[in-house]
Amino acid sequence: MRSPTSLDCPMKLLENRVAIVTGAASPRGIGLATARLLVEHGARVAIIDLRAEDAEAAARELGSHHMGYGCDVGDRAAANCTVERVLRDFGQVDSLLNFAGISRSTKVMDIAAEEYDAVMRINLGGTMNMCQAVIPPMRAAKRGNIVCIGSVAALRGGGLFGSSHYAASKGGVHSLAKALARELGPDGIRVNAIAPGMIDTDIFQGKLTDEKRAEILATIPLGRLGQPRDVAELALFLISDWSSWITGTIVDVNGGGHIH
Ligand SMILES: NC(=O)c1ccc[n+]([C@@H]2O[C@H](COP(=O)([O-])OP(=O)(O)OC[C@H]3O[C@@H](n4cnc5c(N)ncnc54)[C@H](O)[C@@H]3O)[C@@H](O)[C@H]2O)c1
Repeated sequence: MRSPTSLDCPMKLLENRVAIVTGAASPRGIGLATARLLVEHGARVAIIDLRAEDAEAAARELGSHHMGYGCDVGDRAAANCTVERVLRDFGQVDSLLNFAGISRSTKVMDIAAEEYDAVMRINLGGTMNMCQAVIPPMRAAKRGNIVCIGSVAALRGGGLFGSSHYAASKGGVHSLAKALARELGPDGIRVNAIAPGMIDTDIFQGKLTDEKRAEILATIPLGRLGQPRDVAELALFLISDWSSWITGTIVDVNGGGHIH
């Protein structure tokens, strides 16, 4: 008879891990798809989104070991306070996945100061705030990993919908991830970013018409739009030990729509 092996009794990839996923209450969004996949692989998940009710409902859908928190990630004090609550509730934070974000497609001369500030405050500032909030506990544990969400918009000079301020905010996220990877590597903390192409979610607020969809499809060698799960699978890899020597990268997930 064979002795038991890891094949007989597989340890889940994220067993005993706690992950914070921001922007994960949107039912068709990248954050919730990722949270679901992390749970499938054994993680306990803290969902952060703007409205506590939405975050709590999303966490309930995942099961009883998960929790939701209302927090505007653009508010530094709120981000700190929320991470403290997560630490009290779960006792540890192993991974942070910064998915909260907004997209706007305003032409440059029409971008009002308020809209510019909101895009920067949430996309770049929110990522920074959340990173700053988790770094002390990760440093204390001498381990941790962070995934930030950038965009193909930062690589190709604007997105299919997101315009200049959105692209700039995501370019900032890419740079932030690289700089934090360098600074935090000696603490055992890895930081990477994902640059998705067009992912079929509700972020485009009805702008993805059938005509636009066909136009975009014609530019994607793999012949389909991205699905939230495409990003989730990459995020799972980047927070798992399968990527333990990977840090400071910006990884494309775009069906070949942007090859550089
Ligand atoms: N969908 C795409 O094609 C695409 C491409 C590249 C990058 N992205 C990025 O991926 C991330 C997720 O996008 P999605 O398509 O799933 O969008 P989505 O609109 O479905 O989800 C975004 C979530 O972020 C939350 N959020 C917004 N502002 C917040 C704040 N201040 N604090 C906390 N939560 C906040 C929203 O409530 C929502 O639940 C975004 O950062 C987006 O810029 C998306």
